[in-house]
Amino acid sequence: MSTANQEKLVSLFKSARVVPVLTIHRIEDAVPLARALVSGGVRMLEVTLRTPVAAEAAKAIIANVPDAVVGIGTILNPDDLACAEQLGAQFGISPGATPELLKAAAASHLPFAPGIATASDLMQALAHGFDVVKFFPAEQAGGIKALRALAGPFPQVQFCPTGGIGETNAPLWLAEPNVLAVGGSWLCQTADVRSGNWAGITAMCERSVKSAKAA
Ligand code: 3PG
Repeated sequence: MSTANQEKLVSLFKSARVVPVLTIHRIEDAVPLARALVSGGVRMLEVTLRTPVAAEAAKAIIANVPDAVVGIGTILNPDDLACAEQLGAQFGISPGATPELLKAAAASHLPFAPGIATASDLMQALAHGFDVVKFFPAEQAGGIKALRALAGPFPQVQFCPTGGIGETNAPLWLAEPNVLAVGGSWLCQTADVRSGNWAGITAMCERSVKSAKAA
């Protein structure tokens, strides 16, 4: 990835600190959900390509919520990456990586964080020029202890851990020197989205942003 893309990603993660992972099932939820998150101070949004309406949802948010910084998550292959570029996403994230995806992402203008869970994954990512990565699934793959162990051989790498992170443990992860931001679904829980509890989502974001700042 180009240095400019890498710098853009670092700056997005640093100013966000918490990144909600959005799995949108109903297109009508997209814009109110994004507005609720932005109202709570959470602007960097990862819209995952996990549902039939995901691309349409990202498009609606980009068109209607100008304060949101919309990225695409669950990018599994070069086609998904092309979809993210076409939508006008500002960044891309994947849960893991393949050589094909890393190659396509390295040639793309899109700031991109590949997913890694092991030292070997990380070496593949570095070989393609990526030193800002998603650590996934963060808690399940060894938690903060694993992240600290990776910092030994890979001091230049910065992380966005995701997976098993919530309101309580987010500040612990954010206190790690090699953690730029944390991601997770806790900021927009399924039950709240289903019931249209936008005020509840905004309140959760406000609390999480406050504790992220204190971390
Ligand atoms: C992801 O896609 O990054 C994870 O599924 C989010 O994990 P969480 O639901 O444990 O936050």
